[in-house]
Amino acid sequence: MIQVDNVVKTYLLGRAATSVLRGVTCTFPTGSFAFIVGPSGSGKSTLLHLLGALDVPTSGEIFWDGRPLSRMPAIERDRMRREEIGFIFQSFNLLKNLTAVDNVLVPFLPTRGGRNRRDEAISLLKRVGLGDRLHHRPGQLSGGEQQRVAIARALLKEPQLILADEPTGELDSQNGAQIFELLRELQEERGATVITVTHDHRYIRANDLVLEILDGQLLPRETSSAQPA
Ligand SMILES: Nc1ncnc2c1ncn2[C@@H]1O[C@H](COP(=O)(O)OP(=O)(O)OP(=O)(O)O)[C@@H](O)[C@H]1O
Ligand SMILES: [Mg+2]
Repeated sequence: MIQVDNVVKTYLLGRAATSVLRGVTCTFPTGSFAFIVGPSGSGKSTLLHLLGALDVPTSGEIFWDGRPLSRMPAIERDRMRREEIGFIFQSFNLLKNLTAVDNVLVPFLPTRGGRNRRDEAISLLKRVGLGDRLHHRPGQLSGGEQQRVAIARALLKEPQLILADEPTGELDSQNGAQIFELLRELQEERGATVITVTHDHRYIRANDLVLEILDGQLLPRETSSAQPA
């Protein structure tokens, strides 16, 4: 479970302070499929970064299974971020000299695990529709194909938490639907928690948890079990 308690995020640019998140409180139960929606600039990516401990709140606290991130030893937080969270972000961060398969294996390349996971990496690339692009480098792939490589890379970790920022932003509706099917399988088969930012409301289902953010604050929603404060 992830709890967000009165989180504020303020950026300082020169002397001007911009409040991007202004007291966000919500809960993502383990195994939930959640969407963060809202207009451009409302703070969605900022919140996702904080949930994944890629950045720290200005005030307030985030809890992973009851453990406050701000008081978790950095080494432990980094390990969880590296091994247990699948990030699917707007910039794909693929390494341009590596093939699709090796890019998927990047989190495991420093260890011997990399070799054992090659078959798995290939099967994930097939599942995202890239079976015939295994040995292409990012420069030889379209934007949507690069995005799917990044998705396969995130999923190879078998993450318990998946944080996805517009995971279908570069994809047509057929490939987009395929990615959401994959994310839902992970949620159902492994009980993973999936938190996704999207502009595309077609992918939202009735039982999903939906958090709507506007100007850095959550809007109350009757249907949401996330109980924004
Ligand atoms: N490092 C930063 N310094 C200053 N301001 C920032 C910084 N990062 C983000 N912002 C501002 O915070 C606001 C929220 O940004 P964020 O990326 O969270 O929006 P978003 O909801 O994800 O928008 P989009 O849908 O366009 O991706 C924006 O107005 C942005 O300009
Ligand atoms: Mg964003």
